Amino acid sequence: MGVASAHPIQMVLTDPLLRVGVEGGVRLVMESTLSARDRVGVQDFLLLENYTSEAAFIENLRRRYKENLIYTYIGSVLVSVNPYKELEIYSKQHMERYRGVNFYEISPHIFALADNSYRAVRTERRDQCILISGESGAGKTEASKKILQYYTTMCPTRHNTHYIRERLLQSNPVLEAFGNAKTLRNDNSSRFGKYMDVQFDYKGAPIGGHIINYLLEKSRVVHQNHGERSFHIFYQLLESGDNSLLTRLGLQKTNPQHYHYLVKVCVCRTFVMIFTLHIIYICNLLFSVSSISDKHSWKIVTKAFTVIGFNEEEVEELLKVVASVLHLGNMQFGVDEFEETHVTTDTQLKYLAEMISPLNLDQVLSARDALAKAIYGRTFTWLVQKINQSLAFQCSSVIGLLDIYGFEVFQQNSFEQFCINYCNEKLQQLFIELTLKSEQEEYEAEGIGWETVEYFNNKIICDLVEEKFRGIIAILDEECLRPGDASDITFLEKLEDTLGGHAHFVTHKLANGKTRKAVGREEFRLLHYAGEVNYNVTGFLDKNNDLLYRNLKEVMCQSGNQIVKQCFHPDELIDQRRPETAATQFKLSLAGLMDILILKEPSYMRCIKPNNGKQPGQFEEVLIRHQVKYLGLMENLRVRRAGFAYRRSFEAFLQRYKPLCPDTWPNWRGQLLDGVSTLVKHLNYKPEEYRLGRTKIFIRFPKTLFLTEDALEIRKKTIAITLQKCWRGYRERAKYQRIRHAVIMIQSWWRGVKGRRRARHRRQAADTIRMFIKGFILRNEPRCPGNEYFLDHVRFSYLMTIKRNLPKSVLDKAWPRPPPSLTEASAYLHHLCIRNLVNDYCRKVQPEWRNQLEQKVVASDMFKGQKDNYPQSVPRLFVGTRLGNNEEINLKVLQTLGSDNKYGVAVTKYDRHGYRARPRQLLLTASTAVLVQESKVKQRIDYTSLLGVSVSCHSDGFFVLHLPPATSKQKGDLVLQCDHVIETVTKLAIMAEKIHNINISQDSIKFALARGKEGVIDFTPGAELRVIKTKNGHLAVMAPRISSSV
Ligand SMILES: Nc1ncnc2c1ncn2[C@@H]1O[C@H](COP(=O)(O)OP(=O)(O)OP(=O)(O)O)[C@@H](O)[C@H]1O
Ligand SMILES: [Mg+2]
Repeated sequence: MGVASAHPIQMVLTDPLLRVGVEGGVRLVMESTLSARDRVGVQDFLLLENYTSEAAFIENLRRRYKENLIYTYIGSVLVSVNPYKELEIYSKQHMERYRGVNFYEISPHIFALADNSYRAVRTERRDQCILISGESGAGKTEASKKILQYYTTMCPTRHNTHYIRERLLQSNPVLEAFGNAKTLRNDNSSRFGKYMDVQFDYKGAPIGGHIINYLLEKSRVVHQNHGERSFHIFYQLLESGDNSLLTRLGLQKTNPQHYHYLVKVCVCRTFVMIFTLHIIYICNLLFSVSSISDKHSWKIVTKAFTVIGFNEEEVEELLKVVASVLHLGNMQFGVDEFEETHVTTDTQLKYLAEMISPLNLDQVLSARDALAKAIYGRTFTWLVQKINQSLAFQCSSVIGLLDIYGFEVFQQNSFEQFCINYCNEKLQQLFIELTLKSEQEEYEAEGIGWETVEYFNNKIICDLVEEKFRGIIAILDEECLRPGDASDITFLEKLEDTLGGHAHFVTHKLANGKTRKAVGREEFRLLHYAGEVNYNVTGFLDKNNDLLYRNLKEVMCQSGNQIVKQCFHPDELIDQRRPETAATQFKLSLAGLMDILILKEPSYMRCIKPNNGKQPGQFEEVLIRHQVKYLGLMENLRVRRAGFAYRRSFEAFLQRYKPLCPDTWPNWRGQLLDGVSTLVKHLNYKPEEYRLGRTKIFIRFPKTLFLTEDALEIRKKTIAITLQKCWRGYRERAKYQRIRHAVIMIQSWWRGVKGRRRARHRRQAADTIRMFIKGFILRNEPRCPGNEYFLDHVRFSYLMTIKRNLPKSVLDKAWPRPPPSLTEASAYLHHLCIRNLVNDYCRKVQPEWRNQLEQKVVASDMFKGQKDNYPQSVPRLFVGTRLGNNEEINLKVLQTLGSDNKYGVAVTKYDRHGYRARPRQLLLTASTAVLVQESKVKQRIDYTSLLGVSVSCHSDGFFVLHLPPATSKQKGDLVLQCDHVIETVTKLAIMAEKIHNINISQDSIKFALARGKEGVIDFTPGAELRVIKTKNGHLAVMAPRISSSV
């Protein structure tokens, strides 16, 4: 089975997501999104809906190229468009990313192709080959180098063969120096086909290699088109070889224009070659190639020689061959008057003496060129063999890399294009055979009926070229060999005779009117699988003959140069057979190549060149369409799509699409086949849309797959929500459990703390209570440990009680009752407290208030508990006077008394006779009490003469001023009654200093009347105040009883 069956028409639907994968590398998860599909087209042309449309094909390429996506698949064929700029996609990380990953899991890349082949070699020991084709400058050589780099970087090494890696890599610069040249299409164009086997041991380590070269463009040694160069090695040597080397080789440094083979401007028939300034200018332009540094390359090449294992002598021998080719080119010939040809320069004679027999000038020139080409061509082959020796070929599994010219179609196509295009026909045939074969094998393996695939089998063209006796090559050989006047034109005629009527062969003569114009008279047209190409027969015979005169060969066989000696073997001279023609040699080598390739599983890479200007980002559609056609990409696609567009193992298919069916989601437990059947049934696939094999499902149309992808895309949202839901639920539950656990922990801890604290308190409380009780029992004992706590507590709590209940004012008599042990202390404290309050109070007392209080104290001393209406008077303030100076006391009286008047009050005077009540004013001055009747001062009583004052113990307002008989002028004592008796009597007692002369009578007051008589006032309690004169001549006063509780 081919690669195609190992990884059949695999698709890459989308951009992948990164994930960490096996072997520590970064892997990409297959992630198919429609958005990616829309954004950058399809990553696999098999999925192009309109797969027969070239325009759709090119549009897809264009869209991807604009996004720097230079790689696209056609199944397992990798199509690449030269970016003409360095892309960041070849790093070690990228290599890691592609290691061990399936084709369809990841975006198309050359590393995917390389890795795919490598895995097949390593795991299944199946030989692989990677066929890289494309136009000149399309990127074939770069691609093959990238693949080689991938293997040398990513594969494990065996320590005894580690040098092989380096040699594999270093073989490139050497072969490029000798086999590559600047052309108009590519500054580093490979002018030979190259097939390289890389060999791996069972562990996958590269252990050897082998190179086969095909059809070196030897003609370049003697002739280059305008704007092109010969092989790089000539310029590298001249530019950078050190002086002594160049001297030894007879070369002049940095003077390529001195070497005719490097400046092939025109064939000069004169004796003197004129190098004009113009030519020198052209030469200078030619030799400087901006993208090539000959100096730098020289360094790399000389280093590579060492790595590959050349010793110094071998290098020098090799360079001598190179130099001798240059010298050969500088041999000039002239024709003398006898038409004989002479070598014209002595210098060249010195180096190449006596080599050329006298021929005509054309023959001489062509013989010289043939020799130069032969020397160079054979040396190149020798070089390849030398490299092969160093690569230590061993029998083991291999991956072959074929970097070979793709289809070439120029304005004028010659023998070389014929060979190249024939080569491509052969490769296409191999492709068809292997692809179809692998498809068929896969169908058989899967038990699916083989359906005939419509495709163009190009075997007919291959036969047209290579068939024995009837093929173009056979006819060409025949023309070359036959005696007589064979020419290119006779060859063309022979072709017409033999092949006339062949469906793929046309000449001017054979063509009908329409085609005739397009085919020149010296041309024949082949209808290749990729398109029509006209070949001009001019030069076909010469190029095919590729003859070298026998005597030149003889000379070469005797060469002292070991390389030349090996290249020209004396056996050649003995062999009388004609050497194989170039075309036959090429045919045979191709047949050999086919034999090699047919035994291997091929992978294909088709390189496309986006523009002729080597410009990044330029997508020239015409040029690309041309290449798509001649690379046969549409044909490739058609063959691939002939069967099914997509196939995938049941497991992979189910894994990807199982969310689309409730029965398969989230997991299918039964047989995979049943799972896939259930799934496709649920998806409503029509029978013609798919087939179920033994292990794979085959889907015929991309549309079916895209619809499934679309459905998956929609479904993904639901799945995402479900996943989010589950995840959030899980996360929240976990969070809740964490919190709950934490809460329980905190609670239990806190409860423990609280419990321990409570237990401690209880214990302390029990101790306290116990101590308390014990203390209580012993409370009357002297202070001892048993009762000291109790006593202290009693003391403390009593003191605290006192503190809380301290008297607020001096009148507050409340005081907590002390426990017996503190009686004394309590009394002392109470006393202190009251003293403090009194002190405080006294400090705050105002003078008027002091005066008031002093009077009140006096009143208290005199009347407290003695007179009924005293309590009533206590809350009433004593005033300065009861009579306003201005209004109530007559002015005259005031004038009489002056400012001496201190207190005035309205009183009622009871006459001594008859007890008539008369309203009077009692005024107290500093020294006298004055009784006033309006403006008249009725009586002055000097305080000194006042004997005393009597009042009753009742609530009446009577008071009697006792006077000595002499002062009273016999009028007797003064009986007065006043509403403010306590106040008036107190003031009088203070002013007259008679405090101790106040007499409080119980029932009656006796008082003196005039002339020694005595009057009596009787006091009795009554409902209200009444004053009457009794029959016994007493004055009876009834006064109401007032509760003494105030
Ligand atoms: N992958 C790439 N990335 C960047 N540049 C590239 C890439 N491939 C090719 N190129 C550029 O294109 C140039 C030509 O490529 P290359 O020599 O591989 O072409 P080729 O197909 O081998 O042509 P020829 O048939 O003439 O040998 C390279 O020198 C390089 O500048
Ligand atoms: Mg190349």
